[in-house]
Amino acid sequence: MTKTSTTNPRVLGAYEGFVKHLKNFLDEQQFNHEEYTNFVKWADRLGRSGEIPLFLDVFVETHVLESKYKDSPGTEPSLLGPYYEENSPVLEKSPFVMPQRDDEPGDKLVFTGNVSSTNGPLAHTKVEWWQDDADGLYSNYDSPAPDFNLRGQFVTDENGDFEVHSIVPIPYQIPTDGPTGEFTFAAGYHAYRPAHIHIKFEHEGHETLITQVFFEGDKWLETDVAGGVRESLLTKLEDKGDHKEASLNFVMRAE
Ligand SMILES: [Fe+2]
Repeated sequence: MTKTSTTNPRVLGAYEGFVKHLKNFLDEQQFNHEEYTNFVKWADRLGRSGEIPLFLDVFVETHVLESKYKDSPGTEPSLLGPYYEENSPVLEKSPFVMPQRDDEPGDKLVFTGNVSSTNGPLAHTKVEWWQDDADGLYSNYDSPAPDFNLRGQFVTDENGDFEVHSIVPIPYQIPTDGPTGEFTFAAGYHAYRPAHIHIKFEHEGHETLITQVFFEGDKWLETDVAGGVRESLLTKLEDKGDHKEASLNFVMRAE
């Protein structure tokens, strides 16, 4: 059977644009053949190690998002990253308590927010939340915690408000023992991400919003290895004695 050609103009356009800019880039950098060969070997190690999603999410995803959204209204997206997991537990009752161990380490966090639309108020938005634990690890990936620890989904109320009870996330390092770490250190970067909460919003008639929340005063805000920080995604962590409080509002883009 012969394969029929199904042209996708986006593929050709993207490839031609890439080659055009690649030529300028190569004129500028003047790589020698040994450098090219070293790159090919590194890229091969990257693929074999399974780190292509990690590398692209850390070093490329933020630029894709920034290009598309920097001048548009609504909350700025930030990277999805490699630690998202579908089908997290559905939390029915507000305040929404993130699944956690009996003795979950870390500072208790009460987070309040509101989700609206570029068109105005918005009721009943689906929200997915995931974060690291007090050891800087993610359930389902590198944490010994049960699957879906500190992951959950819920729906905002009729005014778009929600309240989550969880723990305060901490800064963590991206994996450093493979080709991604090799690149990170060869470039002279550190491997830290500032503390953040991952959050995803879905509502009919609106573009899905995937973003992150960061905290003022974090040591790594300026030099986040993944470059995910945006001014509008920063909030204050307020000390309330036995817990911390933070708040941020989000605006989805109407389609
Ligand atoms: Fe993360």
